[in-house]
Formats: sequence, C-alpha cells, structure tokens
Amino acid sequence: MATERTLLLLKPDAVQRRLAGRILTRIEEKGYKIIGLKMMRVTPELARKHYAEHVEKPFYPHLEAFITAAPVIAFIVEGPDAISVMRSMMGSTNGREAAPGTIRGDFGSSRQMNLIHGSDGPDAAAREIEIYFSPEEICEYNLDLAPWMLASDE
Ligand code: RTP
Ligand code: MG
Repeated sequence: MATERTLLLLKPDAVQRRLAGRILTRIEEKGYKIIGLKMMRVTPELARKHYAEHVEKPFYPHLEAFITAAPVIAFIVEGPDAISVMRSMMGSTNGREAAPGTIRGDFGSSRQMNLIHGSDGPDAAAREIEIYFSPEEICEYNLDLAPWMLASDE
C-alpha cells in the first residue's frame, strides 16, 4: 500500500447537474482526504495541456468544447493507493458501460459527459496536480480518525 495523491475534476456536467456534493460525499465517506479544492474555468490552453495525450484524436475538439463550457471543481485526494482507488470509484469512461455502484455507472450514460476525471497513474497525477494547483493551494493535515481506518501493518 502506498499513500498517494491524485488529481480529480468534477467536470462541467457534474457542476451543471448539481451532483458535486453527492460525488464529493462518496469520496469523503470512503475515508479519503481532500487536501486542495477549487472551482475554476478550464481555458482551451489548459485543456490542451491537461489532455495533451488526446489533442490529436478526432474527438478532441468535442472534449475541449465540453470541458471549457462551464466551471469545473478541481481537487486533490490523498490516501491509500488513491490513484487506483479513485479510478475504481469513477468506473469505466463510458457511463453506459460503467458498473453500477461507480460514479459514472450510477449518475450518467454518456461517454463524453462522464462527470469526473481522475489521474490514471503516478506520472499523470504528479503532472496534473502541478498543472491545476500551486504549492500554496495544497493544505496538508492529519486525519484524526486515520488509526481507525487502516491497520498499522497494511
Ligand atoms: P478522464 O481522462 O477524463 O479521467 O477519462 P478517462 O481516462 O476515463 O478517458 P480518456 O480515454 O482519458 O478520455 C478523456 C475524456 O475524453 C472524453 N472522451 N470522448 N468521443 C470519444 O470517443 C471520447 N472518448 C473519450 C471523455 O470525457 C473522457 O473522459
Ligand atoms: Mg484519461
């Protein structure tokens, strides 16, 4: 087990559909710690930086139009194996294929408007946290309940 940090976005559809609170609640209830959070508008320039791996793909213009169309809520989650655990909680990219019980599986049916982004590996997490947050915006603190959520030998 590794304590990791990962970058999450509640995408414009989550904000517009007023699902932000319910999605954040799931992550809090799972026991993960939010160590930075802000509402912001993704600019086309930021979208190209974030989704650099997709810029040349045919769907990219649609993705950019979507992600810049309304505010997002960007946040950093820290906790045990946070990168893969958040990806599991999100579910598959396409909401129609995402398993029930996952965020995308429970709240949507679109491939593009899939509510949430999560970094897909350690390199992406480090890169994306740096893109979205300055060091001063990250709040480090201890969770007082931590000893009740993870055994010392895990
Ligand atoms: P994300 O990066 O947003 O966490 O999503 P993901 O890893 O599950 O999916 P990815 O393949 O990285 O795609 C990034 C986002 O682009 C939109 N998309 N549209 N029209 C299409 O074929 C298509 N494919 C992907 C989705 O919003 C997806 O989350
Ligand atoms: Mg991705």
